[in-house]
Amino acid sequence: KTANVAVVGATGAVGETMLAILAERKFPIDKLHVLASERSAGGTVEFRGREITVQDLATFDPTGVDIALFSAGGSVSKEYAPKFAAAGAVVIDNSSAFRYDDDVPLVVSEVNPEQVKNRPRGIIANPNCSTMQMLVALAPIHRKAGITRINVATYQSVSGAGRSALEELGRQTGALLNFQDPDPKRFPVQIAFNLIPHIDDFLDNGYTKEEMKLVWETRKILGDDSIQVNPTAVRVPVFYGHSEAVNVETSQKLSVAEVKALLEAAPGVEVVDEPKAGGYPTPVTHASGTDPVYVGRIREDFSHPNAINLWIVSDNIRKGAALNAVQLAELVLQEG
Ligand code: A2P
Repeated sequence: KTANVAVVGATGAVGETMLAILAERKFPIDKLHVLASERSAGGTVEFRGREITVQDLATFDPTGVDIALFSAGGSVSKEYAPKFAAAGAVVIDNSSAFRYDDDVPLVVSEVNPEQVKNRPRGIIANPNCSTMQMLVALAPIHRKAGITRINVATYQSVSGAGRSALEELGRQTGALLNFQDPDPKRFPVQIAFNLIPHIDDFLDNGYTKEEMKLVWETRKILGDDSIQVNPTAVRVPVFYGHSEAVNVETSQKLSVAEVKALLEAAPGVEVVDEPKAGGYPTPVTHASGTDPVYVGRIREDFSHPNAINLWIVSDNIRKGAALNAVQLAELVLQEG
């Protein structure tokens, strides 16, 4: 079985990785369309060693597209995803535009793959990168012991904010090493050699939207609105790979050995946990450019009767976005 595939936002940080992963996993493509704004239309992107011409989304006719992978931002998805779906495509959308709609499934391929089929609008939503890696690791714990509460602080790389953010970290690092002004543009304050406790918009409750995505998406994906989540999302001067310090409370007590056994058997997870120098995952040494969700620093929370601490690291552009989108496309293709 083959499919006509469109990648929308193909020139972006996630879009280019979608193309790389489609090639790596030998996704059976009949015809490939790469789309972006009129700014980059007429230019080319590489796919399987060939140059493919970028087309302007605004003037593209989606007739004949079977699967469309969207990663061009929420407003682009809101406008164009329904048009692609109406033309018969299954849309896999990486933006937050449809994630919280009841008639749009929100799917992590290792956690709730069966939900891919429940798509009355022809749209499947790809979760936020931070939720994605957290739930690949926590879903097996939830199934075994019932998660009641999650306390999480994220350490999120700049690639999650797109190509311009990658460029800003590089530019500011160079500028500061040359005693020049960092001149923040993409982030509200300097990101090089700094941390910013602010991702996405501030909401009325004092949390940011990025933080609330962890609450809303965890409940929707695990199918349990009673799970409490208390997030703090922080941008860090790392290029690729998000890290998360996670404290999980469960209704049933789990030992460290039980948690390790669950995680070692979990699809998409790799345990890297030796209590010695370097015996833990980091974005640079493990995650960047790779597929797994790495888990280390597994230990009982000695301040609580039923809680475990974990350190979860993954490439936010791959498992956090492009890889999961391609895995969902594989599930769609496998359908009868
Ligand atoms: P373009 O290169 O033409 O601007 P990133 O998240 O890395 O910034 O990438 C965003 C992606 O979304 C890019 O491929 C960008 O294309 C695309 N994009 C942004 N706005 C639009 C739009 N209005 N129509 C189509 N593609 C868009």
